[in-house]
Amino acid sequence: MPQKQNADIDEHIKGVAMNYAIDVQGLSKSFHAGAKALDDVSLQVADGEMVALLGASGSGKSTLLRHLAGFVAGDAASGSVTVNGQLIQRRGKLSRQVRGARASIGFVFQQFNLVGRLPVITNVLTGMLPRVPLWRSLTRWFRRDEVRAGLDALAQVGIDDYAFQRASTLSGGQQQRAAIARTLVQNARVILADEPIASLDPESSRRVMDTLAQINRSRKVAVVVSLHQVDVALRYCPRVVALRHGKVVYDGPSANLTPAMLSELYGSELSELLPEAAIAAPAMPGLAPLARLVAA
Ligand SMILES: Nc1ncnc2c1ncn2[C@@H]1O[C@H](COP(=O)(O)OP(=O)(O)OP(=O)(O)O)[C@@H](O)[C@H]1O
Ligand SMILES: [Mg+2]
Repeated sequence: MPQKQNADIDEHIKGVAMNYAIDVQGLSKSFHAGAKALDDVSLQVADGEMVALLGASGSGKSTLLRHLAGFVAGDAASGSVTVNGQLIQRRGKLSRQVRGARASIGFVFQQFNLVGRLPVITNVLTGMLPRVPLWRSLTRWFRRDEVRAGLDALAQVGIDDYAFQRASTLSGGQQQRAAIARTLVQNARVILADEPIASLDPESSRRVMDTLAQINRSRKVAVVVSLHQVDVALRYCPRVVALRHGKVVYDGPSANLTPAMLSELYGSELSELLPEAAIAAPAMPGLAPLARLVAA
């Protein structure tokens, strides 16, 4: 690419990215020659948005979230990812500031990623590690005000009573809320959650989604959450980004998703993802069955 063109793109990225919590421009990733896990994905998320990432198994949801967090770099000819105005990666290379940029990104995993033998509060306080001196992070020594902040975060997600128990003694839903509390002490401005409720029962799922939604509203944190449950996505997220074979095939209000679009997105998988009432759409295409489902 000519240098002038590169400079123009750099300028454009800088200008656009400053206004968004997340800005992705032309991101592609091929794990194997010929098969693209991400195919020219462009996407912007504003501060305070709550976005559901939908798509069939293998459509690229986890891959996209991992690229946003800077865990992996895209293809060499690929575009850029900027989060909170800081460059994460560009043209297949992680940026030099990626470590610092990651400090403002909270990542919530399906399997919680807590250290089971450590107390819940210690797990939560590890969210501060990028900001504390190395010697303190090695000894896991936290100041009184930091422990207080950890307890506040646990209170915010409703599990402060469990602060001094080993993480492994908590239920799955409680562990996931502890993982969310960790993003709070981290002061994350963006939360990326990869199927955070996939291994939870319905009641725990509801609590975890309520917690994410509450943080999104009260702190104006941008949340991007990949979900298998379409009904949950529609209930909690005003906006949906849908992937198919690594391409964004829908990006817009959840309310405008139609049963026809969903069945194109998921094919035969759809029946596993929606309660029957939502699939049995009347002849008239449109919102009605989905809207009823969300109101249920
Ligand atoms: N580390 C990897 N090495 C090789 N291929 C990979 C790797 N990670 C993902 N893929 C491939 O990339 C594609 C997208 O996978 P990804 O895990 O992002 O899908 P997903 O939408 O998260 O699926 P699921 O809903 O099952 O979690 C798949 O074809 C997958 O096999
Ligand atoms: Mg996945």
